Amino acid sequence: MQVFKEKTLLKAAVKAAKSNAKIIGLVPTMGALHQGHLSLVKQALQECDQVIISIFVNPTQFDNPADLEKYPRTLEEDIRLLKQADPELWIFTPTAKELYGENISAEQFNFDGLEQVMEGKHRNGHFDGVGTIVKRLFEVITPHKAFFGEKDFQQLQIVRKLIDKTGLPVEIVGCPILREENGLARSSRNERLNTFEREEASFIYKTLLKVNELFGTKSAEYIQNWVEGQFKNHQVLKLEYFEIANTQTLEKINRKRKGNTYRAFIAAYVGEVRLIDNIALNNE
Ligand code: PAJ
Repeated sequence: MQVFKEKTLLKAAVKAAKSNAKIIGLVPTMGALHQGHLSLVKQALQECDQVIISIFVNPTQFDNPADLEKYPRTLEEDIRLLKQADPELWIFTPTAKELYGENISAEQFNFDGLEQVMEGKHRNGHFDGVGTIVKRLFEVITPHKAFFGEKDFQQLQIVRKLIDKTGLPVEIVGCPILREENGLARSSRNERLNTFEREEASFIYKTLLKVNELFGTKSAEYIQNWVEGQFKNHQVLKLEYFEIANTQTLEKINRKRKGNTYRAFIAAYVGEVRLIDNIALNNE
C-alpha cells in the first residue's frame, strides 16, 4: 500500500505505470470511507490495472464553515479499509497547499445550467469548488478513468460536462448507489445520526420508491404535492427540496416527454445533518 502526500511523487509513479501500459483509475473522495466508497473502488479495480484513491476534504466546495469543520476525518481507518480491500491500491492524501498553492479559492465554471439547480441552488458556489478540485486532480493524476457515485447524481453529470468542456481525456464511470439495509443511502454524514434518526432517515428512500410507483400514473404536480405533504407530517425529517428532473439537463420536469428520462431528487435535514438521495424513474 503506497500513500502519497506529494503530487510530484505520485506523478512520477503514474508516469512509470503508464509506460508499462497500465490503465490508471481514480476514485476521488473526501475520506471517512464507507461501503459506498468501497463499491466504487471495487468497480475501479475491475476496470483498471492501478487504482488511486484521493482523500481530500476540499474546503472550496463547502458553503457552510461549520459543515467543513464537522466533516469526519478518519484517515487511519480509511487507510486500513483500503489496505483490506487491496494492498496494491495507491492513496493520495495531499494538503490544501499541495493542491491549491497559497491561494485556496475556486475557479468559476459554466456547466450550461447543470450547476444552477438543486445542490447548486441550495449550496452557494458548491459546484465551482467541486469543478476546481476534480479538474486539478485530473490534471495531476491524468487517470484513464475516474469513478463517481450516482449518490451525487448532479455532481456526476457536472463532472461529465467538465470533461466535455475541457477536453481532458478521462472516461467518467457512474456507479450505482449503495444503501444500508433499511434503504438509507450510505453516506459519511450518516455517522452523525443516532440509531433512531438513522432509522427515520430511511423515509427518504421509501418516499423515492413510492414516487417511482406514482410516476407511472400521476402528474408531476400531484407527486410534488404528495411528497411535500408526506414531509410536512414527518416528526424528524425536514424537506429542503424535492424535484423530478430530466436526467441529462437536470431541468425540472414540465410534462413527461417521450424519449426523455427522469430522476427524482430529495435533500432533507435530520437536525443539522443534511442528506441527499435520488432514484431513476422507470415508468415512462
Ligand atoms: P465524497 O462525498 O467522499 O464521495 C466520494 C464518491 O463516493 C462520490 O463519487 C460519491 O458519489 C460516492 N459515493 C458516496 N456515497 C455513495 C453511495 N452510498 N453509493 C455509491 N457511491 C457513493 O463526492 C465527493 O466526496 C466530493 O465532492 C469529491 C468528488 C471527492 C470532490 O471533492
